[in-house]
Amino acid sequence: MHTTIYKNNNVFIATSIDGYIADRNGGIDWLNSIPNPGNDDMGYVEFFNKIDGLVMGRKTFETVIGLDVDWPYDKPVFVLSNTLKEIPINHHGKVFLMKGTLIEILNQIHKKGFYQLYIDGGTTIRNFLKEDLIDKMVLTTIPILLGGGSSLFSELPNELKFELIETKIYLNQITQNYYKRKK
Ligand SMILES: NC(=O)c1ccc[n+]([C@@H]2O[C@H](COP(=O)([O-])OP(=O)(O)OC[C@H]3O[C@@H](n4cnc5c(N)ncnc54)[C@H](OP(=O)(O)O)[C@@H]3O)[C@@H](O)[C@H]2O)c1
Repeated sequence: MHTTIYKNNNVFIATSIDGYIADRNGGIDWLNSIPNPGNDDMGYVEFFNKIDGLVMGRKTFETVIGLDVDWPYDKPVFVLSNTLKEIPINHHGKVFLMKGTLIEILNQIHKKGFYQLYIDGGTTIRNFLKEDLIDKMVLTTIPILLGGGSSLFSELPNELKFELIETKIYLNQITQNYYKRKK
């Protein structure tokens, strides 16, 4: 069916052992709870180099612009939102507001020439999974139980099988599983 549409949608995200992507206060400081003196990027740069653009939920976008860092992406970021009216002026040309069904959104992004997409944000990833639109997932597990917060996964209309392609261990503490959708 829409093979091109789903083949190029990738997730690269870190969770707690209990599967949360943000703590009860929306915080993500725990992502850095393992000392990383050599600043190991845990495969992020290699992953990022392979993508053409990002599709991000409004809440993740707001988290990123709220961080005390320069804009971290040198590829186009497509922000999904029904409520955001406009993109802050300093992000014009780099960030593009999108809404509609996921298929409509993906078609629009593909028409602009961007195919390999990094899908980010809990709700956004769950919405993509509900429509079986994710092909690859790199899931990094931080050894902490948060006990509550925003879960990465939720119920799905159907089970989705994935194949484990590779497992890596970083800093002797952090596991990373790379899964590919098995059809
Ligand atoms: N652990 C990690 O590595 C990691 C990575 C990324 C994010 N996070 C954290 O996860 C949290 C964000 O996740 P989240 O689940 O709250 O949400 P999210 O996916 O970032 O954003 C959800 C919002 O995206 C918009 N949206 C999603 N699908 C849409 C569609 N088809 N059309 C229009 N708008 C759409 C809606 O915005 P409107 O309400 O404006 O309509 C929705 O409220 C943040 O705390 C962030 O820091 C953690």
